[in-house]
Amino acid sequence: MICQLVVLISGNGSNLQAIIDSIKARQCPAAIKAVISNNAAAFALQRAQAAGIATYVIEHEHYPDRAAFDRALLNLIAGFQPDLLVLAGFMRILTTEFVDHFLGRLINIHPSLLPKYPGLHTHQRALQAADKQHGCSVHFVTPELDGGPVIIQAATSIKPNTTLELLTKEVAELEHKIYPLAIQWFAEQRLTLVNNKPLLDGKPLPINGYRYVKTN
Ligand code: GRF
Repeated sequence: MICQLVVLISGNGSNLQAIIDSIKARQCPAAIKAVISNNAAAFALQRAQAAGIATYVIEHEHYPDRAAFDRALLNLIAGFQPDLLVLAGFMRILTTEFVDHFLGRLINIHPSLLPKYPGLHTHQRALQAADKQHGCSVHFVTPELDGGPVIIQAATSIKPNTTLELLTKEVAELEHKIYPLAIQWFAEQRLTLVNNKPLLDGKPLPINGYRYVKTN
């Protein structure tokens, strides 16, 4: 069975690209039905079009409030009947109603080792705190911002003289490994959310998720 995905994006779309590539490489039994952006200028739209994926733009400025935007977004998504809804750099906070509707089939990637640094500017915050480690997390989305149960994390040690640019690049490379992997698990029906706990192959994952170890 092919897992039907809808991907929501707002910007560059490097994670979308990693997902497209993993599907193309037949690592992940999934198909992207649609890529939806709240930003008409997002480069991710070009990436999707180059891969032959249908794209849609729904701009929040055209809606009176968050609830109205989320209802319109939900209606658009419902037409594709996705098995999994993937947030890949979607820069909008979603309403509880929206999140509850997709609970257990809505995932996000966040550039920090959650629960550290929810929200923005995570790389700067890790550097400022002189953290020894930094990384990224894939999690099921719940109404709490960046607070849902973690599926998988990848960490890198922060080198003493690293820069914001280098750290950003290093974490992005890890993101491009763990997001396709989490989606692959879901598509293979190995990953589920039961009573707010992520299970992999029927077993609960550790509180910080599966620890991804870089192999090359
Ligand atoms: C990534 O850092 C991701 O963790 C965060 O938004 C960024 C999206 O980057 N949620 P891209 O658009 O996938 O390149």
